Amino acid sequence: MKSIKNLKNIKDKKILVRVDFNVPIKNKKVLDDFRIKKALPTIKFLQKKGAKVILISHLGKEGTESMKPVALCLKKYIKKNITLLENIRKYPGEEKNDPKFAKELAETGDIYVNEAFSVSHREHASVVGIPKYLPSYAGFQFEEEVKNLSNVVKNSKHPFLFILGGAKFSTKIPLIKKYIKLADYVFVGGAILNDFLKAKGYEIGKSLVDNSDYDISSILKDKKLILPVDVIVKSGNILVNKKIEEVDKNEIILDIGKESIKLVEEYIKKSKLILWNGPLGKYEDGGDVGTKKILKAIANSKAESIIGGGDIVSVISKLKLEKKFSFVSTGGGATLDYLANGTLPGIKALE
Ligand code: 3PG
Repeated sequence: MKSIKNLKNIKDKKILVRVDFNVPIKNKKVLDDFRIKKALPTIKFLQKKGAKVILISHLGKEGTESMKPVALCLKKYIKKNITLLENIRKYPGEEKNDPKFAKELAETGDIYVNEAFSVSHREHASVVGIPKYLPSYAGFQFEEEVKNLSNVVKNSKHPFLFILGGAKFSTKIPLIKKYIKLADYVFVGGAILNDFLKAKGYEIGKSLVDNSDYDISSILKDKKLILPVDVIVKSGNILVNKKIEEVDKNEIILDIGKESIKLVEEYIKKSKLILWNGPLGKYEDGGDVGTKKILKAIANSKAESIIGGGDIVSVISKLKLEKKFSFVSTGGGATLDYLANGTLPGIKALE
């Protein structure tokens, strides 16, 4: 990948910068601008060299959301003139990676920069299509992501603790299969825990499950797999800490329990490398205690720590802990895909 550091004579050149400003928005306000802030050094660097920056981003899945809240947030940080295109997913050619659409986009610029690591697992026109038609470069944060995550793939220190939470069982299963070999301990929380508990024959009540037919029997037998010993359940309107064998058929598992937090803290103490993706509870419903406590425990440990996934990143920002980790990735799905495959379509497009 070529770095933007090597760009010369770009005064008045139009530079198309694919950013990922897919940020949480409520009441037309950006709730967490971590991803926006991470793209600023690249934008400012190009502007300082006299280039005309044109930002391309998606927001949400459908392409229906307005970029206006993002533009207002960006205005706080960028004082020079800048163009932010409308939500790129508004155009069907984007997700279809339509070559005609990619070419049309490419014709509006002279140079392309990918500063959207977190969407680089998608073969979309603005990620893999445009680079076919323009000289293409990686932004600073993009390079940082690849550097830090490839280090984990290549030189993992031991003991190595891998923590996996969140939902989307199907995308995470290949990752568990991979990391059960690479890591020394694999701790599972979040909604994917429900599938594990169910496969082990435990009652999980009305908790969210994937129900796809994945063979996880070998993972379940593996001694490296660490499952919580207790959980927080929503029982009627109250939250109760219960042992995993005590969950009732009308309850919903929301978070890992107190004993499980202590258990993970013990593993954190003895680990030299910690990699974490996905929250450990359903935090929008009050299941945020496990995630916050484990974040604090890692922040206070001496282990090298790499944390990713939009949802955890917002919690890290709120707790003001960002500087306490070795690397906080802007990517969710992209980080997982990169770790599983060692590359991404958006990286290959720049090579
Ligand atoms: C993300 O939030 O992970 C990226 O912006 C990609 O979004 P997507 O999952 O809608 O492609």
